[in-house]
Amino acid sequence: MTLTAVPETKRIEVDQTDKRWKLVRITMQKHNYSPRALIETLHVIQDSFGFIDNEAMQYVSQELRVPLSKVYGVATFYNNFTSKPAGEHSLVLCTGTACYVKGNDQIVEWMKERFGLNPNETTPDNRLSFMTARCVGACGMAPVMILDGHIMGKMSPDEMKQRIEEWLSNDSN
Ligand code: FES
Repeated sequence: MTLTAVPETKRIEVDQTDKRWKLVRITMQKHNYSPRALIETLHVIQDSFGFIDNEAMQYVSQELRVPLSKVYGVATFYNNFTSKPAGEHSLVLCTGTACYVKGNDQIVEWMKERFGLNPNETTPDNRLSFMTARCVGACGMAPVMILDGHIMGKMSPDEMKQRIEEWLSNDSN
């Protein structure tokens, strides 16, 4: 049987300088890009990004040569995988050790008090989704948060709270 290559125009390219994608690649390499690496790879994406979006699923399908339907099936079957956040804005808070001890534990509590959100929840008005990641690969910037895909770090808990409030109140974001 010959494997049909994904047409060049449809290939998914990810940012190779992003440490999170490096972790994903290392995981796939460790298993020689075998389809058996699927679940472990999805776990690494979940832990590094806080969720698994369509682009990530297509990338994994392409690199491990697993049908996209199977990747979707696995990613949606297991409860510990989170799909793309539903909210207009998304906050991914890193709760890896380096970030947690530098104040992100307080932000988790504050998100509950301020917005009524636990990790993996979205406000009823769909304005904000809140997720956590285990380590986003930027420990040198701890404590790290990612607001709508923008990585921010080296802030005190109060500065982070202020940043989140400002971000949400600025509709041009
Ligand atoms: S623990 Fe937060 S970036 Fe590594």
